[in-house]
Amino acid sequence: MISFYLIFYGLDMMLVSGQCQINQQSVLIQLKKELQFDSSLSTKLVSWNPNITDCCTWGGVSCSISGQVIGLDLTNETISSEINVSSVLFDLDKLESLNLAENYSP
Ligand SMILES: *[C@@H]1O[C@H](CO)[C@@H](O)[C@H](O)[C@H]1NC(C)=O
Ligand SMILES: *[C@@H]1O[C@H](CO)[C@@H](O)[C@H](O)[C@H]1NC(C)=O
Ligand SMILES: *[C@@H]1O[C@H](CO)[C@@H](O)[C@H](O)[C@H]1NC(C)=O
Repeated sequence: MISFYLIFYGLDMMLVSGQCQINQQSVLIQLKKELQFDSSLSTKLVSWNPNITDCCTWGGVSCSISGQVIGLDLTNETISSEINVSSVLFDLDKLESLNLAENYSP
């Protein structure tokens, strides 16, 4: 029993190393709350669910190997709110690419 436990624990640790860092996930959850969008038409933001702990698997999210968010593709997500300098978006300090095309103009 103990050896099985160690094997599974070991596999779990290996998987965790490539996963979304917890602080990155909480920024994305705050960003989702901040944005106004139509959840019946959204395909990416609606998949941002804190119960799915690896935020690197969420729609439109790209991560580095170390699990930091480096890309957000939020095209065609019916986003109607503005993103200003106080947005939590700027807490994603490794973000290299952001695509907000095909959303509503403010
Ligand atoms: C945008 O999203 C709507 C609703 O999900 C979909 O019907 C439409 O095909 C999408 N447009 C593009 C260009 O992907
Ligand atoms: C997350 O899981 C809890 C407990 O199962 C559930 O009540 C909640 O609705 C879930 N949240 C989402 C966003 O699916
Ligand atoms: C930034 O936008 C938020 C809503 O998304 C708003 O509450 C806040 O007042 C705005 N701040 C500035 C400086 O415009």
